[in-house]
Amino acid sequence: MKTAKIGLLGFGNVGGGTYKILTDNADLIESRVGVRPEVVRILQRNRNKKRLVEASPALLTEDPDDILLNPDIDIVVEMLGGIEPATSFMLQAMKNGKHVVSANKAAIAANYKLLTETAAANNVEFLFEASVAGGIPVLAAIEGSLQANDFVEIMGILNGTTNYILTKMTDEGLSYDEVLKDAQEKGFAEADPTADVEGLDAANKLSILIALAFGRYVAPSDIPTTGISKITPADIDAARSRGKKIKLIGQASLEDGKLNYSVKPVELEASHPLAGVNNEFNAVYITGDMVGELMFYGKGAGPLPTGSAVCGDILQIMRDMCK
Ligand SMILES: NC(=O)c1ccc[n+]([C@@H]2O[C@H](COP(=O)([O-])OP(=O)(O)OC[C@H]3O[C@@H](n4cnc5c(N)ncnc54)[C@H](OP(=O)(O)O)[C@@H]3O)[C@@H](O)[C@H]2O)c1
Repeated sequence: MKTAKIGLLGFGNVGGGTYKILTDNADLIESRVGVRPEVVRILQRNRNKKRLVEASPALLTEDPDDILLNPDIDIVVEMLGGIEPATSFMLQAMKNGKHVVSANKAAIAANYKLLTETAAANNVEFLFEASVAGGIPVLAAIEGSLQANDFVEIMGILNGTTNYILTKMTDEGLSYDEVLKDAQEKGFAEADPTADVEGLDAANKLSILIALAFGRYVAPSDIPTTGISKITPADIDAARSRGKKIKLIGQASLEDGKLNYSVKPVELEASHPLAGVNNEFNAVYITGDMVGELMFYGKGAGPLPTGSAVCGDILQIMRDMCK
């Protein structure tokens, strides 16, 4: 039996979901790929914390070197969050000949060139499907089935928290503050919601989409970004009176060779496919010169949807390891 030895960096929401999929569906994965996934170490910070999923204590470690320097590990999966130490850990893993999978849009958007160039220089794969729109396989589509297209435009609802807030404000006439408080109580919004509500998380994801679809790197800090914290019920009503709906849209388009991009609240015609994307759902609407318009819709977060995308990347690497 062939096995792929996997080290997980992070055992929170995404780490827990990924571990569950790799263990619960190990037989299925082996039957499809011809290789069995085996998680051999898991990095966490706090050994006493209650986890979403149980793992054997023998797998758990607080020392990143147990994974990064472990000669047996083929694939390192980074699910820590934040730019550092995540970026340094990924670079070290690549330099040690390990393939890397990551869900971390903040680290990838900030250090896109360094990470992709280091992977190439070390002849290892670097895949990050889960970093944009969680469970939705949009990066694989851009890099795979849609490769024959020149991309004209990408528009996305890329952040579930802000879409949830705007949906509740629109459907229930509530204020931004009321919905944010409710979202925090239900666990849909972070205690510090700044990265979500000010559009920074969406800008990270748009930066990655631009890199893959348009072949250019635009730092998230260079993307003009406006969040939703200043949207009022009056704005929502005014849009409604014009037959429109307000959504936080990450958008990039190519016009006469010039790339335009932004993250901002946009009034969409109520009939636009993105206007019907509600609550915590994400969607990416892509126009290619040959395929025309496409929309990818699904869950942009959550342990299992995000873990599904992480595992898709792991399986891709496992297949490539067999070639
Ligand atoms: N949550 C989602 O649905 C979702 C969706 C798409 C992408 N992502 C991305 O996935 C990544 C992980 O998100 P998450 O929601 O799973 O976060 P999380 O629940 O906070 O989990 C992070 C994990 O990393 C560990 N960790 C963090 N810094 C560490 C360090 N310096 N050394 C050792 N362990 C460290 C934490 O350990 P302790 O638990 O011991 O503190 C925890 O196990 C982020 O980049 C996020 O943007 C998340």
